[in-house]
Amino acid sequence: MKILVIGGGGREHAIIQKLKEDPKTEKIYALPGSGGIAADAECHPISATDIPAIVSFAKEHSVDLAVVAPDDPLVLGAADALREAGILYFGPQKNAAAIEGSKVFAKNLMKKYGIPTAAYETFDDMDAALSYVETCPLPTVVKADGLALGKGVLICETRDAAREAVQSMMRDRIFGDSGARVVIEEFLTGPEVSVLSFTDGKTLVPMVSSMDHKRALDGGKGLNTGGMGTVAPNPFYTADVAERCMKEIFLPTIRAMKTEGRPFSGCLYFGLMLTPDGPKVIEYNCRFGDPETQVVLPLLEGSLLDVMLAVAQGRLAETQVKFSEKSACCVILASEGYPQHYEKGYPITLPETGPDERIYIAGAALKDGRLVTNGGRVLGAVATADTLPDAVKAAYALADRVHFDNAFCRRDIGQRALTALGGKQ
Ligand code: AMP
Ligand code: GLY
Repeated sequence: MKILVIGGGGREHAIIQKLKEDPKTEKIYALPGSGGIAADAECHPISATDIPAIVSFAKEHSVDLAVVAPDDPLVLGAADALREAGILYFGPQKNAAAIEGSKVFAKNLMKKYGIPTAAYETFDDMDAALSYVETCPLPTVVKADGLALGKGVLICETRDAAREAVQSMMRDRIFGDSGARVVIEEFLTGPEVSVLSFTDGKTLVPMVSSMDHKRALDGGKGLNTGGMGTVAPNPFYTADVAERCMKEIFLPTIRAMKTEGRPFSGCLYFGLMLTPDGPKVIEYNCRFGDPETQVVLPLLEGSLLDVMLAVAQGRLAETQVKFSEKSACCVILASEGYPQHYEKGYPITLPETGPDERIYIAGAALKDGRLVTNGGRVLGAVATADTLPDAVKAAYALADRVHFDNAFCRRDIGQRALTALGGKQ
């Protein structure tokens, strides 16, 4: 089969490597892919948001399945355009991608269907939002309605900070039109868990749970980033919690989407917080998480292609999806200065990898045949092992065998999970 993958980050590299394991895969195209992905797929310089060009490419190359990985093309309607062109695709239609594309939509859906989430108010009028923050409980959380490259959430400890957050989003439009409306919500506490799931709109199969590390520096300090590392499974996500989430959150969500005439098909990501009052939804994403995918897919046993085809064709109920009992850890190597200013263009030396090791390239380009750094997050060093402590150790050992100038990584990926495990492993 010929497969087209839209996107070009570490998540897409992990998807492509997993799809390649299936003997049915003859060829993979990536739009735009990256200098690193070029080792595993044929890359073409078409932007992930240029939907007409993506559809023409898919038709010209007679692709059998198109996988739309990033949020922005999905929210813009890439899956709808592929469907209209008669191309089989993996990813939600635009009206279902709104579950990530509009936080106001997601919050109202949860309220209407009784799905546990932080209490909230929504505003499209700045003066109303400003008067609300004069009396709301602190800390409070101000969120831009639309997509904002993962930066549209501001946790405000003081009224001054909350006022400033509202003004920067609604008046100064620091996130463009994404800030035309805002959600202001209750601050929740508890461990965070990411659960990605496969769903065809009727059946939902959760993948192994994971834990992201979003801040740039050790101990959860520094600025928010796209994610500095992940572990799977997440030890806070026990069998009891999983059962409760399935009953109170996952199934009610896909039923709600179906009832609203927006059946969700693809990968639905649940960002959860395990609060003292039970699990609550922090956010939905309409796609695989990055860098969660980099630890989840190596633990998937069997064919990702078969599962994606079953989702795309609406027959997930008949398909076996199985995850290994092992653990995985991903350490992101970034360019010094990320997520703010950083230099690009340093040559990267990659080590040989063993069967339990993987390098997923995120921000790298080919220059005169050499791989060079080309982004803030450069690559993920991933290891799997029988236990989480061994996976963490092995991921750091792998990361330490990668070389490029100005590289940095967090040194405490997995520590919170290991502490939670205590003497259990
Ligand atoms: P997001 O950019 O939507 O992934 O949110 C970034 C981070 O903000 C989340 O991973 C949480 O750590 C935090 N966050 C979002 N909403 C809340 C909330 N209601 N209470 C506490 N923390 C939150
Ligand atoms: N790791 C969080 C996300 O993909 O949005």
